[in-house]
Amino acid sequence: MSRTVITFGTFDVFHVGHLRVIERAAALGDRLVVGVSADALNIKKKGRAPVFSEGERMEIVAALKPVDAVFREDSLEQKRDYIIEHGADVLVMGDDWEGKFDEFKDVCDVVYLTRTPAISTTALIEKISGTA
Ligand code: CTP
Repeated sequence: MSRTVITFGTFDVFHVGHLRVIERAAALGDRLVVGVSADALNIKKKGRAPVFSEGERMEIVAALKPVDAVFREDSLEQKRDYIIEHGADVLVMGDDWEGKFDEFKDVCDVVYLTRTPAISTTALIEKISGTA
């Protein structure tokens, strides 16, 4: 039976840590669906707009070989609905979220992957802007 994997993220200023988590998520199943967080959600949660718009971020993620489908994640509270709606068998998150999504183990497997060390969008923005 075909296994669908779902993962979520902002994927702003796309970097190799993003690529690796997507590749490893895809390897856990037959089909990978990625929820790309809405601009409004980022503004609400992080207090700033992403560098690249949600349309651009979705376009980049959708073009990756391991990605089968993308959708816009409008609310963190809708995770359960997104998992069910997309028929996901596995939820994959970076281990910065370790334990935080265990509540969904009743509807799918929940896997946390180790983050790629020493790279993040925030660190890149600081480096490029000369504030790091
Ligand atoms: N990720 C990863 N390794 C990194 C950075 C991110 O595996 N070095 C993963 C996250 O765990 C998440 C996905 O990539 O599953 C999307 O993360 P996102 O928050 O968009 O990227 P960050 O670089 O962590 O962004 P920020 O610095 O704004 O938090």
